[in-house]
Amino acid sequence: MRVFSGIQPSGDLHVGNYLGAIKQWVAAQSAESLYCVVDLHALTLQIEPAALRQQTDDLVAVLIASGLDPARCTVFVQSHVTYHAQLSWLLECVATYGELTRMTQFKEKADRQEGYRVGLLTYPVLMAADILLYQTQQVPVGDDQRQHLELARDLAERFNNRYGAVFTVPVGVQPPAAARVMDLQEPTRKMSKSVSSPLGTIYVLDGPDAIERKVKKAVTDTDGEMRFDWEHKPGLANLLELYSGFTGENPNDVAARYSRYGDLKRDLAELMIAELAPIATRYRELRADGAELRAITDDGAAKARHIAAETYRRAAEAMGIL
Ligand code: AMP
Ligand code: TRP
Repeated sequence: MRVFSGIQPSGDLHVGNYLGAIKQWVAAQSAESLYCVVDLHALTLQIEPAALRQQTDDLVAVLIASGLDPARCTVFVQSHVTYHAQLSWLLECVATYGELTRMTQFKEKADRQEGYRVGLLTYPVLMAADILLYQTQQVPVGDDQRQHLELARDLAERFNNRYGAVFTVPVGVQPPAAARVMDLQEPTRKMSKSVSSPLGTIYVLDGPDAIERKVKKAVTDTDGEMRFDWEHKPGLANLLELYSGFTGENPNDVAARYSRYGDLKRDLAELMIAELAPIATRYRELRADGAELRAITDDGAAKARHIAAETYRRAAEAMGIL
């Protein structure tokens, strides 16, 4: 089963990314899976060149530290395989302006700034190129990427109908729990890299004290009733969902085992610390050894390039490019 997913180096990784994406990637990794740090996507918003360089390496190191094993799967940096940008152009000539301007994420991000970049509009086409280059069958992504994935499917089908069968039509797969981790301070808003909420966001590299403090201060409610109910008790539901994201247990079963919010919070913090602390340690080792990191991404890019070259060639040929 060919699996592909990508993640942007646009800020520190939080537990939403970890549960919604990374943990699944680690569980499902195989010789047929590719995981990509999408540095080109990060250019769609303002980012300092030095920050992009650093965050790209940081993210590769966190992915490996979290359990992606370069001997078992392919981990690489998007820009190292130039076919992504090349196929993106071909697909821009298949996509329509109308369908891109209808993308919710584009509308939200464009609304927040003056003079946004064209790349913000074409972002989902580059994402489609990422996926389609590898004849991907499954794309593990969080709930917020559903619309982009649908576009990738539409573009693949349209291309195949118009120019001949070149692309596999991918399907998205959602994690069983924690597909949408909410901010701990504002549980009706998604935990996010782009909105700064220092107490509401738990980072994968947070130390034990920070994790404990943030979980303890997480907003709940005042009726004190322990039950899993997103509509009426979003703060508590988020904690239960997080708990189940870390253990795989059903959130209703978790709720049934606790009566006090404080006990749930204490155990949740403990679970997180136990899983995240070793990741931070391994991350620091990798980050201290630039050569090891470069060897990993060079090797990953070589493996990816091999597959991408063939798909790109077929797509370009089908369109009439000499
Ligand atoms: P991003 O931070 O947008 O680059 O997202 C990287 C990956 O994490 C994608 O698969 C997202 O769908 C997933 N993701 C981002 N935020 C969350 C969240 N709050 N809960 C669950 N998954 C998330
Ligand atoms: N747009 C995705 C996000 O913000 C990141 C991404 C880029 C991606 N290319 C991808 C995810 C290809 C899956 C497959 O989360």
